Amino acid sequence: MQSVDTERSATETDKIVATGVHRVFGGTGERVHALGPVDLAISDGEFVCIVGPSGCGKSTFLRMVAGLIGPSDGTIEFTTHRSGQSTSMVFQEYSIFPWKRVIDNARYGLDVAGVSKKEGNRRAMEYLGKLGLAERAKSWPDTLSGGMKQRVAIARALAVEPEILLMDEPFAALDAQMRQILQEELLELWQADRRTVLFITHSLDEAILLGDRVLVMSSRPGRIIADIRVPFERPRSNTIRTSHEFTELTSELWELLRVEVDDESAGTV
Ligand SMILES: Nc1ncnc2c1ncn2[C@@H]1O[C@H](COP(=O)(O)OP(=O)(O)OP(=O)(O)O)[C@@H](O)[C@H]1O
Ligand SMILES: [Mg+2]
Repeated sequence: MQSVDTERSATETDKIVATGVHRVFGGTGERVHALGPVDLAISDGEFVCIVGPSGCGKSTFLRMVAGLIGPSDGTIEFTTHRSGQSTSMVFQEYSIFPWKRVIDNARYGLDVAGVSKKEGNRRAMEYLGKLGLAERAKSWPDTLSGGMKQRVAIARALAVEPEILLMDEPFAALDAQMRQILQEELLELWQADRRTVLFITHSLDEAILLGDRVLVMSSRPGRIIADIRVPFERPRSNTIRTSHEFTELTSELWELLRVEVDDESAGTV
């Protein structure tokens, strides 16, 4: 079941191909080798989850895919089918603007892309509706619960209809119930249009529930030490958590991860 992707040529169905990617921070004084080498190919429409010890470079990798920072070495290539914004990102902390109403937050990426306000409002409302927030369109963010704020962030990311959706621990700040609800919503949304998703999480359950593949990263500098295909059929729901197979896969992942976390806390890396 396990295999680590090695360097190979891009194929037609590849959406993202990372080859020999490293990222180093700082100058000669405090040089931090955050990540690498990472070699990875993600297919169009795949939902890929990334787990790994804290500080192993997961967010760094996502930021490189988003083009917010560049790799220190290696390349990240994309196959995109249209011009315009191909990626959008949802962050762990509620990253919506407190001074903008819900609808204006949801429309933000479209405003930046130069979409007319009328069309922007239509698309923002469509995604707010899908996330059960249509009635809160005129609300201010500080009147919303944490789960609602994160839904606004997701609506904002989806409204630009990106080819690649990047999610950095988007549900980490939510309570368990809200987390389950949003996981189910995300599964439904993804099922409907099958975008390519890269999703970072610290929760192994969440990774297995959502992903087609789970990538396990080593402690810093982060490398992919396992690439596990999740065997559960789609569409999925939270009920698969109770199956024996689910529990087994969770333990298998945990075994892989535990070695890395132990390594890190022993200060050997
Ligand atoms: N801008 C930066 N300047 C210097 N070091 C950085 C910078 N960004 C990240 N790092 C370092 O790179 C390493 C990887 O950080 P990153 O945020 O990618 O980890 P992570 O896997 O996302 O961790 P967590 O699970 O805690 O979110 C860490 O050691 C971090 O301190
Ligand atoms: Mg992070």
